[in-house]
Amino acid sequence: MCGIIGYIGNQEAYPILIKGLHRLEYRGYDSAGVALINPNGQLNIYKNKGKVSQLEESIEGKDVSGNIGIAHTRWATHGEPNNVNAHPHYSNSGTLALIHNGIIENYALLKSGLIEKGCTFHSDTDTEVLVQLIDYIKTSGNHSLFDAVQLALNQVIGAYAIAILDRDDPDRIIIARKSSPLVIGIREEEDEYFFASDASPIVEYTNSVIYLQDNEIAIISRKEPLKVIDLKNVEKTPEVSRLEMSISQLERGDYPHFMLKEIFEQPKTIADCMKGRINTEGTNVVLSGIIDNKARFLSARRIIIVACGTSWHSALIGEHLIENLCRIPVEVEYASEFRYRDPIIYPDDIVIAISQSGETADTLAAIELSKQKGAFIYGICNVVGSSIARATDSGSYIHVGPEIGVASTKAFTGQVTVLAMLAMTLAKEKGTIKPNELTTMIKAFKKIPEQMELLLSANSQIQETAKIFTYARNFIYLGRGYSYPSALEGALKLKEISYIHAEGYPAAEMKHGPIALIDSEMPVIVIATNTKLYEKVLNNIQEVKARSGRVIAVVTEGDEDVRKLADYYIAIPKTMECFGPLLAAIPLQLLAYHIAVYKGKDVDQPRHLAKSVTVE
Ligand code: AGP
Ligand code: GLU
Repeated sequence: MCGIIGYIGNQEAYPILIKGLHRLEYRGYDSAGVALINPNGQLNIYKNKGKVSQLEESIEGKDVSGNIGIAHTRWATHGEPNNVNAHPHYSNSGTLALIHNGIIENYALLKSGLIEKGCTFHSDTDTEVLVQLIDYIKTSGNHSLFDAVQLALNQVIGAYAIAILDRDDPDRIIIARKSSPLVIGIREEEDEYFFASDASPIVEYTNSVIYLQDNEIAIISRKEPLKVIDLKNVEKTPEVSRLEMSISQLERGDYPHFMLKEIFEQPKTIADCMKGRINTEGTNVVLSGIIDNKARFLSARRIIIVACGTSWHSALIGEHLIENLCRIPVEVEYASEFRYRDPIIYPDDIVIAISQSGETADTLAAIELSKQKGAFIYGICNVVGSSIARATDSGSYIHVGPEIGVASTKAFTGQVTVLAMLAMTLAKEKGTIKPNELTTMIKAFKKIPEQMELLLSANSQIQETAKIFTYARNFIYLGRGYSYPSALEGALKLKEISYIHAEGYPAAEMKHGPIALIDSEMPVIVIATNTKLYEKVLNNIQEVKARSGRVIAVVTEGDEDVRKLADYYIAIPKTMECFGPLLAAIPLQLLAYHIAVYKGKDVDQPRHLAKSVTVE
């Protein structure tokens, strides 16, 4: 969802800004733009609907000089995607340029007030209200840019990450955030500063970063040290962190798409996720966030898990794991529903928030609501220093590295891995699992990365199967127990990158209606790995076959019965039922990927989607 990048220093800004926009493309957008102040003090703004590459073409031969600038990829919320509504937006005085990620919720009221004062507008966006408001305050009240920004933001309701340039003050950029992310990269020895929506455009220049906090304004200047002041005019001492990210993690390498790279990274990322959390003897799992808050977890009456999309699917697997191993009641909630339902939350409830990006607006709102009601909040995130990671009382990072493909793959298996370790850690502390049972579980758990490696070697077989089904306009995915969330996740993967309609169902639900959909044109993916419900799933496959359905079965290696029934099958190595979703994910990710590639879809940046949904 949208991307912000800015630079001030002694290098030419334009190449840095454009490269940064390319690094941010994975977040999803519909327009792009850039604003620069050239050495003669001229403010140049170039922007258009469409891709960053189209922006570059449109700028060919134009003045892009200057060592101070801001750039933006837009994901429209107010005002259709077009050249006028693209950012940066400029002030009527012609001196200011502003970019914005988020929503100004009270923009209409602010806009009508400004129009009464004689302001004119040339776009349909909420963002333009901000730059005109700042311009009006600055000029009518003879305020400095900083003061005008601070006064304006105190009137704003909504979410924002903004950056603003002043043509008449080419030695500083002012940025501010509330609910939308902003990271500042520092190279003090070179007197250079970078800032962006996430660290991906910054990491190749520096790994010293500051995560701007909500309600903070930063004055980034060539002439004075970085200053951070909040909306109440209190100066802050920002904490400098070191980035864990490496530039190679942001490159596609030999892979045609980030998504395929990230699917193939999973044996390593899952091993990284486990690293340091299982003792060498293989007899104990220690998730430090749980141990540090043991009393809270042992006295929890209930665990509520809030998440969106794929993270909600991993939450469903977490429900099985925690209830089966720890015997604590778990409720899984869509964050977007939970936040508006006025839910009943008790102070001894624990709320777990799962989010790859750590910036999902609905999940953040669910956290704030739960905090107000006194619950203890535990985060499971991938992006270090993200808003959700900082909003929670404690948590665990999944450590799978930057996930660039919009369709989540390695983050999903990373989340399930952390949830498995959370359940095992807590079960050990609660005594709901015997030491020998835990040792057996850990033995199977530690084999997962190598089993994933084995599974990936079946990629070409899965690619062949995918080719057969590119004709389909609908798919059904079926599973039971632990495999039901896997069916939901497999369906989401397919629909979000191939645009084929796909639904996940509990296999037993078919006879309550969906079985009417079955015919010879309808591919049915059935996750039929060895579980205590195996015979039941076998019956469900029979029901589908009896109605000419075409079955692709995910089976456990050595399975004979399902293989005889299915039209096609993909075998996964044998593991414990509770770890099955970690392995079943691989063929379902590859199947969706290859179908989408055969259909010529933009796998890494599917239409309409954003990697991080930072608006409601
Ligand atoms: C999954 O493939 C999608 N990209 C989407 O459903 C995603 O999982 C959802 O938007 C939640 O994102 P988060 O994990 O960053 O909060
Ligand atoms: N709300 C602003 C707009 O629609 C910003 C959207 C974004 O975050 O890209 O232009």
